[in-house]
Amino acid sequence: MSTIDPGAKGDDPSGAPDPRIDTPVVVLSSIRKSYNLGTPIEAEVLHGIDLTIGRREFAALIGPSGSGKSTLLNLIGLLERPTSGSYHLVGRLIDELSDDELTAARLHTLGFVFQFHHLLPAFSAIENVAMPALIRDGRVDAGARQRALSLLEAVGLADAADRKPSQLSGGMQQRVAIARALMHGPPLVLADEPTGNLDTASSNAVFELMRRFNRESGTAFLIVTHDPRIAERCDRVIELVDGRIAGVKHRVAAH
Ligand SMILES: Nc1ncnc2c1ncn2[C@@H]1O[C@H](COP(=O)(O)OP(=O)(O)OP(=O)(O)O)[C@@H](O)[C@H]1O
Ligand SMILES: [Mg+2]
Repeated sequence: MSTIDPGAKGDDPSGAPDPRIDTPVVVLSSIRKSYNLGTPIEAEVLHGIDLTIGRREFAALIGPSGSGKSTLLNLIGLLERPTSGSYHLVGRLIDELSDDELTAARLHTLGFVFQFHHLLPAFSAIENVAMPALIRDGRVDAGARQRALSLLEAVGLADAADRKPSQLSGGMQQRVAIARALMHGPPLVLADEPTGNLDTASSNAVFELMRRFNRESGTAFLIVTHDPRIAERCDRVIELVDGRIAGVKHRVAAH
């Protein structure tokens, strides 16, 4: 397997923060989230979250079903807005950004891995990996294709570059999804139950890949998981209960 260079192109015209600066990737202050605001079924599901995620962190987010893990991940991922509180993503206050600015920030700063990989079935593995370049730049140039190929190599799937998702196993599809999440060398990857749908061997392979990218490229990871074997191998375990952070455990890193 090849080593992956840490980042995407440096000539970023969007004004996105320089990922080499040592600011935390995420700083949440007093974040609250309610659904169905102003209706009889209004419900607050996050009750004032304070959380900082540092550069190169490799953290797990655990907690019972319904505790708000996905909601929190979606807020950090700029897929939803908080009801109140403030959020700095790589040093940039995102509270006042327009929807277009949020989309741009998402494309430049974040990678996503979901339980169900969300690969596009009509496209090959390499096209799926290169998709963020297509969305961001409107085309896949030779450099982007080369990067997509080296990412596929890094996840052990260079030989499968031209196969469609339906021709890959669940574990292979999730490795393609990880390669896609890293296409732009984001400082932070958010993963919602990335191994939830996999057998033990595939789950281990997917975990090891994320861990390796974290160590080699410095990409921070926040991984929602129900699997204690995954959580106990992360450097920090953040536990959410009923929409509040109930505990944070640090583990002495083994590297
Ligand atoms: N779009 C929505 N509208 C209304 N309520 C919602 C919405 N999304 C989530 N909720 C509620 O917010 C709470 C937290 O849900 P969330 O999906 O974040 O939990 P979770 O910790 O990810 O659970 P799981 O482990 O089952 O995935 C739940 O009570 C859920 O019903
Ligand atoms: Mg969830």
